[in-house]
Amino acid sequence: MSEANPSYKLKVLGIAGSPRRDGNTDHLLQEVMAGVASQGSETKTVILSELNISPCRHCDGCIKTGKCVIDDDMQWLHTDLREADRLVLAAPIFFMGVTAQTKAMIDRCQALWVIKYVLKLPVAINPGRERKGIFVSVGGTRLHNLFQPAMATVKSWFLALDIKYDGELVFSGIDEKEAILRHPTALKDAFVAGQELAAGNMPK
Ligand SMILES: Cc1cc2nc3c(=O)[nH]c(=O)nc-3n(C[C@H](O)[C@H](O)[C@H](O)COP(=O)(O)O)c2cc1C
Repeated sequence: MSEANPSYKLKVLGIAGSPRRDGNTDHLLQEVMAGVASQGSETKTVILSELNISPCRHCDGCIKTGKCVIDDDMQWLHTDLREADRLVLAAPIFFMGVTAQTKAMIDRCQALWVIKYVLKLPVAINPGRERKGIFVSVGGTRLHNLFQPAMATVKSWFLALDIKYDGELVFSGIDEKEAILRHPTALKDAFVAGQELAAGNMPK
C-alpha cells in the first residue's frame, strides 16, 4: 500500500529483550504495544529469549552482499527490521548495558550496517517513509546515568537501521519481577508512549 493510501497501517515491531518472561520490561512493552494498537497500527512482538540468534562472528561474510551468512532467526528478523515503520526495543539494564540477548541481536545487524555504509543502499524496504523508534528500559538501582550506556548502544543501532531515535521510557529502582506493576504511572506512561509513537497512523 502506498503512503498516500489512508488505509495504510503502520507496521510497529516490538522487541522483548529480557530473558525474564513476564518481567518488568515485558509488562511495559505490552502496554506500549497496546497503545500502538489503539491507533489502528499493525503490531508484531518478538521475544528474543525464545529465538535462536547467535552472536556476530565478524567473519565479514556480509561485507559484499549485506546478507549475514549465519542461518538462524536473524534472517527473518532482518526483514522485519527493514519493514518496520516504528520500533520499540524493551530491554532491562544488565551490568550497565543491554542484555546479552539484545546485544547479540544488535550486533547481528552488522549486515544492515553493510547495506547502509558499504553498499550505500537503503536499509528500509520502503525508504520514503519516516522510521522512528523508542527505547524502553528498567534498572534495579537508582544510579546516576544508569541508562546512558545502553542508550548510546541503542542510538548507534537505530542510526545503522535508519531509524530516528524518538526517545526513551525508563524507570530506575525497579528490580523484583513485577515491581513495575506497583509503579504509580509506568503502565499508563507506556500506553501513552505507544499511542504517541503511532499517532496519526500515517508515515510522515
Ligand atoms: C545479570 C544482571 C545484571 C544486572 N545489572 C544491573 C545493573 O547494572 N544496573 C541495575 O540497575 N540493575 C541491574 N540488574 C537488575 C535488572 O535491571 C532488574 O532486575 C530489572 O528489573 C530486570 O528487568 P526485567 O524484569 O524486564 O527482566 C541486573 C540484573 C541481572 C540479572
